[in-house]
Amino acid sequence: LYNHRRNEAVRSFVHSTRDAALEILNDFVLGVDKSGKITFIEEGKNVDRLAQEQGFNTADVENLGPGEFFMPGMVDTHIHASQYTYMGTALDLPLLQWLNTYTFPVESRYRDLKFARDVYTKVVKRTLRNGTTTACYFATIHTDASLLLGQIADDLGQRALVGKVCMDINPMVPQYKELLDESKDETLRFIRELLQKKYPRVKPVVTPRFAVSCSSSLLDALGEIARTLYFQSHISENKEEVELVKQLFPDCLSYTDVYLKHGLLTDKTVMAHGCHLTDEELKIFHKNGASISHCPSSNISLMSGILNVRNVQKHKVKLGLGTDVAGGYSASILDAVRRAIDTSKVLTIEHPQLRPLTFEEVFWLATLGGSEALSLDDRIGNFEVGKDFDALRVNVSVPGGPLDVFPEDVIVEKFLNLGKTPWLSFISLFLQYG
Ligand code: GUN
Ligand code: ZN
Repeated sequence: LYNHRRNEAVRSFVHSTRDAALEILNDFVLGVDKSGKITFIEEGKNVDRLAQEQGFNTADVENLGPGEFFMPGMVDTHIHASQYTYMGTALDLPLLQWLNTYTFPVESRYRDLKFARDVYTKVVKRTLRNGTTTACYFATIHTDASLLLGQIADDLGQRALVGKVCMDINPMVPQYKELLDESKDETLRFIRELLQKKYPRVKPVVTPRFAVSCSSSLLDALGEIARTLYFQSHISENKEEVELVKQLFPDCLSYTDVYLKHGLLTDKTVMAHGCHLTDEELKIFHKNGASISHCPSSNISLMSGILNVRNVQKHKVKLGLGTDVAGGYSASILDAVRRAIDTSKVLTIEHPQLRPLTFEEVFWLATLGGSEALSLDDRIGNFEVGKDFDALRVNVSVPGGPLDVFPEDVIVEKFLNLGKTPWLSFISLFLQYG
């Protein structure tokens, strides 16, 4: 079963498990088979026995240098690929005005496939360089450009859920919306054509923008389509938006109830933000197995609110981190890690009884938590035997790097707080053989 030269083995691993937010496995050895799956992860002292059993040569074991470790690839559970052009700018307005002023005019340009190819290539390359090996993308309403995003992610080796955006209501920027039937038909075409490509790591996700820009008929139709598929949208990001949804859907008990009533709250649903969800709504999330994407950078930049992560976890709702580019001004999950810790501390300032998040907990959110939120935890998220070896090789001792290492250091914490991209040389996100 194992090809001698192609079985790689390495020695120091940092990951999360079901029981521990952070587990550090020093002097361990990990094996990967031809298809890129982890075949063993054991103490280094067992390497001779493993070499015999698994049929590899110990001379082929690759040793990590000082300051190096492997961690799971990071998961961005919510990012708008189409907003990458203006990332880092246009952060002066709250959500609804921000959408009308900056977002919709830019997104309407993706009819132009040349423009789409250029931006989508750049955003996939950028997120990969930042250590995002899995991303859950919003594209735009344009089917062909959305298919192109899937192709680019596949070409460049990123695991991705790709959503063609659906919206049939847009009074302020009416040139950027679809007709009801068009939205349904194009969603079906998008799903069909993307699945036909049989990309091993790229799948479609049904994507109504949010309740504000979708008619009840469109949500119903998408609920039918999304029964067995992934589904993503936005929820309770900003108070003005929550009020507007109440007015638009007077028969629904809450924002969550809007998605629930239209069949869109399933165990393959991921909803961005949720800053203003009530406990009742969180209970509905839990009951239906739906997840939340926590996007702290965006929540601060657009002055939306702060998610109480401890309360979400108390309700046992699955949770991952998202950059929400371009509401968030960074395409790096490391940045989301830092913002998640900082915003949890702001909540602690306001409510001293609330414990801030620890770096271990946020490491979990960036990796295993994200994989659970996207229902991909059977394939990625940590270094369990049988999962894909989807990993970042981190070196904290690069000359000229952004931090100095001292003997007593908690290296992973320093890396999470101070790590920078050029210095995070990722290799072998899914080792692709033959
Ligand atoms: N709600 C609906 N659309 C969007 C979007 O593009 N970005 C954010 N942050 N929230 C939204
Ligand atoms: Zn978003």
